Amino acid sequence: MSDVSSWTGGSPPRSFGAPRKDLDETGSTNDDALRWAEDGAPEGALVVAEQQTAGRGRRGRTWLSEPGHSLLFSVVLRPPARALPLVSTAVGVGVCEGVRAATRLSVLVKWPNDLVVGDRKLAGILVESRSSAGDIVAVAGVGLNLSWPEDRPPPDIEDIATSLRQESERSGLDEIPSRAVVLERVVAGIERRYRQLVGGGGADVVTTAESLSSLVGRDVVLRLPTGEEERGMVTGLSVEGGLELSTASGQVTFTSAEIETVRRG
Ligand code: BTN
Repeated sequence: MSDVSSWTGGSPPRSFGAPRKDLDETGSTNDDALRWAEDGAPEGALVVAEQQTAGRGRRGRTWLSEPGHSLLFSVVLRPPARALPLVSTAVGVGVCEGVRAATRLSVLVKWPNDLVVGDRKLAGILVESRSSAGDIVAVAGVGLNLSWPEDRPPPDIEDIATSLRQESERSGLDEIPSRAVVLERVVAGIERRYRQLVGGGGADVVTTAESLSSLVGRDVVLRLPTGEEERGMVTGLSVEGGLELSTASGQVTFTSAEIETVRRG
């Protein structure tokens, strides 16, 4: 009996990555995926672009990329409300595991959800959601640096950014996976962790996020939305994906903050 004919729970689960739109150029794949979701695109629908003209990052920042040198995509999600607080954490873990599966690089997640190799950023993730009449649509947008034009990072970001090619060469890996393989593994990673979350496995997602965190056990300085600074050692992640810090005034959980500095441990 095939998987589909033995499925008894209504529509069979789809595999993320279909249906799919491939665009040469767009404003932002997150905008395209949100519009598509509002027009009825199913969970797992994927928008991939070669280039974005209005890519955005967290906190309203611009996300710049060179045509053909990045993986830029967004996946449509339809999470139940109870899962929403951890969607971003689950996506971060899934992307991290997907890159590891494709490359064997020691990629980690820097809270809230940058992907880093060492202290340099390899990828950024932006989860955005809309809710109408109780229905939630979310999109998980990922921008991953595959390589640099002329094989060199732009001088203004060379100390803080890296690419898959750069890290593969630095680690002496002789094979750099194709864009298609990286995309396939990363989307599969997102699907696996997202389904685990929605299926009630949020605690396991958080435990895995802690084990893949670049910050747990390190001393950090946070910049809070109020502008204040907070210092302490990162002890873990909360059940809702917040950052837990041991500070001079005790154990505190932060749900929104910027990591200003990380002291090498
Ligand atoms: C960040 O690090 O601040 C998050 C960056 C997320 C960038 C990706 S690229 C694909 C998708 N479309 C966007 O406009 N943003 C996300």
